[in-house]
Amino acid sequence: MHKIDIELIEMTLDVMKYAIGRISATEHPIGKPKKAEELKALVGDTVTEKGIGGEYAFNLWKEHLSKANVPVDHPRNLAFVPASPTRAAVMFDLVTSASSIHGAYWMEGAGGIFCENEAMQWIVSLTGLPEGAFGVFTSGGTAANLSAIVTAREYWRRDDTYKREKGLIITSIGAHSSIKAMAKVADVDILLVETEEKLTGKALQETIENLTFHQRKRLFAVVATGGTTNAGIIDDLDGIAEVCEAERLWFHVDAAYGGGALAADSVRPLFKGIEKADSITIDPHKWMFSPYDCGAVIYKEPELAKEAHSQQGSYLDIFKDEGAHGFNPTDYQIQLTRRVRGLPLWFSLATHGTDRYKESVERGIELAQIAGKMIEAHPDLELVREPSLSCVLYRRKGWQPEDYTHWTYENHKKGFALVTPTKWKNGNTFETVSRFCFINPDTTEKDIQMILDSMV
Ligand SMILES: Cc1ncc(COP(=O)(O)O)c(C=O)c1O
Repeated sequence: MHKIDIELIEMTLDVMKYAIGRISATEHPIGKPKKAEELKALVGDTVTEKGIGGEYAFNLWKEHLSKANVPVDHPRNLAFVPASPTRAAVMFDLVTSASSIHGAYWMEGAGGIFCENEAMQWIVSLTGLPEGAFGVFTSGGTAANLSAIVTAREYWRRDDTYKREKGLIITSIGAHSSIKAMAKVADVDILLVETEEKLTGKALQETIENLTFHQRKRLFAVVATGGTTNAGIIDDLDGIAEVCEAERLWFHVDAAYGGGALAADSVRPLFKGIEKADSITIDPHKWMFSPYDCGAVIYKEPELAKEAHSQQGSYLDIFKDEGAHGFNPTDYQIQLTRRVRGLPLWFSLATHGTDRYKESVERGIELAQIAGKMIEAHPDLELVREPSLSCVLYRRKGWQPEDYTHWTYENHKKGFALVTPTKWKNGNTFETVSRFCFINPDTTEKDIQMILDSMV
């Protein structure tokens, strides 16, 4: 299994040919999911005592299994938060795998971690955080949010008064589901301010003033969003920062989706106040054109994260010894063994330069504005709200929720587009509407027009 023979060489060539084909292709079909039973019927038993052979397994992948995936980088995949990794980044993802690097400690992964840190330096510079701030790459926004919440909670519990208290955090209903999920993992209560529009410093202050004495005692952090997933809304970060400072609360900004827009001059002022955050989540696998999976968590004072996350064990002592000194990414987030997942981003940044990143992010914002104008000009459609960052919410006049679902499935089945519905709070009810999220700079105006025209 670990030896080189002619079969292995042939398989390597086949795999490389496939990868080259995928990387250089300009169009990919939108695949269709199949039921597990259907896939099983197509491929049969794949894991057997003697193995089915690389060539056969690879053919099953090419013929059947790869086609049951929807490529996130398809220009008409505008659902959820899609992605569009650069070709340079994808290529270096192959190099990252081929290099077998353990990215936890400098002692083993110095070269890879050095590259990651070069990329991280650029991301940190976009935030405007003060000297000394730094971050690490995580598996995604969820892991970054968890790492930040745990750091904040441990910092709060330094004070003996809070040692036995269950923590409480405040965010808004516009926050991503991972905030609620990660609060559960960290066994922290969460209070949601009832607004999907911008969370303001004023609303936060009022919420704090309405807390009971015990709730106020348990409150240790506020999570603001720098680009909500549903609508691209950036909270009043400056106002929230001010309240957090006055109330001595940890200020976390979840900019997993919107963080890429820090590079875009046209919207950068909307993020004013992010430079006062204690921690920030930004996902390069969303709007920084990195392949999955690559998130990032950044801290104003990384030492606090180290206190919360650094693992201890006799087998790990060597990594902290003289001679092994260097930056150990494992100390700043929840994971020990880790892929150097920032490496593809580094290679792409080094290849193209940061200006190209700016341009590509600006294009996503421009596409949202263009889509907004097309919707306004369309007799059957109307905007639910002005486009924000690269998100557009719009309604098809007269449609019921099931019409949106049917339309989504029809377009998907035809292999034409993936555009999914969402809900928007309208007074006291939630209205089903359609949503675009633009990431891929190769999405064209014609793509948008074709999708809108299909809403007949
Ligand atoms: C604002 C926000 N935070 C967190 C997440 C979770 O990130 P991930 O899916 O990378 O774990 C997302 C994902 O869409 C998001 O949009």
